[in-house]
Amino acid sequence: MATHTYDPTFTDRVINAMGPKTNSRLRQLMAGFIRHIHDFARENELTVDEWMMGVKMINWAGQMSDDKRNEGQLLCDVIGLETLVDEITYKVASEADAPTATAILGPFFRADTMVRQNGDSMVTGVDDGEMVFMHGQVIDYKTKKPIPGTTVEVWQASTNGLYEQQDPNQVEHNLRGKFTTDENGRYWFYCIRPTPYPVPGDGPAGKLLELLDRHPYRPAHIHILATHEGYKPLVTQIFDRQDQYLTNDSVFAVKDSLIVDFVPREGDPNASLELAYDVKLVPKDS
Ligand code: BEZ
Ligand code: FE
Repeated sequence: MATHTYDPTFTDRVINAMGPKTNSRLRQLMAGFIRHIHDFARENELTVDEWMMGVKMINWAGQMSDDKRNEGQLLCDVIGLETLVDEITYKVASEADAPTATAILGPFFRADTMVRQNGDSMVTGVDDGEMVFMHGQVIDYKTKKPIPGTTVEVWQASTNGLYEQQDPNQVEHNLRGKFTTDENGRYWFYCIRPTPYPVPGDGPAGKLLELLDRHPYRPAHIHILATHEGYKPLVTQIFDRQDQYLTNDSVFAVKDSLIVDFVPREGDPNASLELAYDVKLVPKDS
């Protein structure tokens, strides 16, 4: 490699261009970001053409994003950034009575998910899916007391690998629902056994995966967001133990404690499988 001496004062000059009115956290983040990205450019002798490819990729991500699709987030996901930030934000002890582990939100959450009643089915028009009766209790991870009135939002892809907002053939809000726990902290509903699916391949994240010689698949999972005014919101995903992509999730989100077992269900004309899943929340003030 050629040895070059770049202006040793340049990075500091860029950082010091920030004025006194800059918010202190923003100053810290931007100083770190500028330092790392300048070092990255110097260490790799980044060329103008390579830099412009990166700019085009970011622009492409922006052009593909709207309120139903978040390609910038997907790009972060395939390089593990959302999972890393999730770990940093929610780091918790791994004791036996630890709260439910977190996992990334992903780009297919909808803030306006429809309210459903316990016992409802979230499933419309999925002929090739295995029906599951999913149920559980939301409890305080320390006291083990049930938490009535918790909102449990759930969303999953269909067997064709698409979330309803990606698929004009699914009814709106298919395979998603917002439930509320009863007086015993319990929730219950019908869904399908999730199947693995590829992250969208028609944008820059898909292109990057292809260039990196990586597969796009996510292991079968169900997303959960549990919220209650007295507790920290829990964003997580649960994964099917039988899935072939558990050890090589394209977005690196699997944690051992989030792997679950679907078991046969007897005597229910609406479901051949059952999934019991308790959620352990952390009080807001702890
Ligand atoms: C998802 O789980 O829905 C997801 C997460 C990250 C990237 C793409 C999809
Ligand atoms: Fe997902």
